[in-house]
Amino acid sequence: MPETTVSLIVNGTAHTVMVPPMKRLLDVLREDLALTGTKEGCGEGECGACSVMLDGQLVNSCLVPVKQADGSQVLTIESSGLHAIQQAFAETGAAQCGICTPGMVLAASALLCHHPHPTLEQIREGLAGNICRCTGYQKIFDAVELVSHRNP
Ligand code: FES
Ligand code: FES
Repeated sequence: MPETTVSLIVNGTAHTVMVPPMKRLLDVLREDLALTGTKEGCGEGECGACSVMLDGQLVNSCLVPVKQADGSQVLTIESSGLHAIQQAFAETGAAQCGICTPGMVLAASALLCHHPHPTLEQIREGLAGNICRCTGYQKIFDAVELVSHRNP
């Protein structure tokens, strides 16, 4: 397959890769940039495990051909800016097998950006695109509420 040059700014660092233009952003992050924190669940845009921020929007990176992200800013679970949310997930036991956790943390970050003190309904809506098979969701909601309480 012919390759093309793609430039991305990932967690504030500029990268240029030579890849097939239709390669999934998920795979470029994991295979070409060694950022393996972003997980693959369904691979079909249904589970949210592969969530990243692309130019400030929460996206499923399994659905994004990397060429479409050329020149964009990408935020992944490796970003140091997500530490407070990760800490809350650890404190409430919201991460069990961990496959959903990076996507949940990104979705929680997007939610808390818009609603620093979300209601339970807003938390449910904000995380509705992210599936967890382990936690029953309550501990994840507790983690987001913990961050909310700590927000100014
Ligand atoms: S792996 Fe991308 S949405 Fe499930
Ligand atoms: S912790 Fe296992 S899928 Fe959520």
